[in-house]
Amino acid sequence: MNSNEIAKIVGVSRSTVSRVINNYPDIPPATREKVLKAIKEYNYYPNASARRLAGMKNSTLGIFIVDIKDNEKPHHVIINNEDLLYDNSYFSPFINAFIDQANKMHYYVLVSTVYSSEELWKIQSAFYEKRIDGGVVIGSNEDDFSRILKAIKKNFVLAAVDINVTEHNKNKAIYINIDNYTGAYDATKYLIELGHKNIGIVTGDLNKLSGKIRFESFKDALSGSCIPLNEDFIAYGDFTEYSGYTAMKKILMSKYKPTAVLVCNDTMTIGAYKAIAEAGLSIPEDISVIGFDNTQSSQHMSPPLTTVNVSLAEAARNCVEVIARSIENDRLEAEERIIGTKIIKRNSCRNINIETLPNVAKS
Ligand code: ADE
Repeated sequence: MNSNEIAKIVGVSRSTVSRVINNYPDIPPATREKVLKAIKEYNYYPNASARRLAGMKNSTLGIFIVDIKDNEKPHHVIINNEDLLYDNSYFSPFINAFIDQANKMHYYVLVSTVYSSEELWKIQSAFYEKRIDGGVVIGSNEDDFSRILKAIKKNFVLAAVDINVTEHNKNKAIYINIDNYTGAYDATKYLIELGHKNIGIVTGDLNKLSGKIRFESFKDALSGSCIPLNEDFIAYGDFTEYSGYTAMKKILMSKYKPTAVLVCNDTMTIGAYKAIAEAGLSIPEDISVIGFDNTQSSQHMSPPLTTVNVSLAEAARNCVEVIARSIENDRLEAEERIIGTKIIKRNSCRNINIETLPNVAKS
């Protein structure tokens, strides 16, 4: 059965059938009813490529996970037979919630990964081939996102997670960001309130907005409390577990060790915990550790990790809502949504104030 045959049965033109299918308002209600009845009776499903050719919407959203490592193996989105992409504790809650929300709103989801600059065409072609009505890019850095924006038309409905709006505001898009500044500021202040003055940091990937802002905010929080930043207590990570391990090892080699460290994501705290154990030190007795992201595993660490909660699921739900609204209104509704953060206090940070009080106060 095709649209021609439906048209013949009902006694209307093929274009009327297609206008009914696409909900055009200019069809008399009686004709619409007759066409819909025939469609149902004869089990006619307009095929997806025909719909695309006709420029119709196809109720599909894209998720593009970007992990471009042109000069090295992709490692952030670890991919081997054991560690599959969708187990990644940063991406998986986002992808999960995105698919869930999209399905609730009657959208299909197309998921694709981009591992090299050469694969950026995937995003472009998904839009131009009308495979998707809108999509989101996650994991990209600012430069790659600029290239993506340049490659696609301005009116395509595109969202980005963890991208700085001001650098791209000439090109319209939907930006979904975490309040990284407040999160890192609160985390650092929390360590200061616990009496720590020798505080270190394992940064995230500084090419990513979250990596950059968390580091800036940490420095601001220290200087806001007149606490000097010791260069030996800074180590650069890239959000991977291994980088957390090597960065913490480097910090522990410094002559005067910090009493507390902000590790800029929970995945890196796994490596940091290992480095601390190998140095024969205990958390939080010898060193306090605070993480960021509140990933699923953070509560099961030993000791359970104090961290900053970031709801990637909330970010995903916001993302789908704004994308869907833009699609439905046929107009890209460029905006930024910022998702709040909150410290989750567990057992990896120690209050050392008590030790600075006179002996009398200790007893
Ligand atoms: N936490 C915040 N941003 C991240 C990223 N890009 N990758 C992994 N963990 C993160």
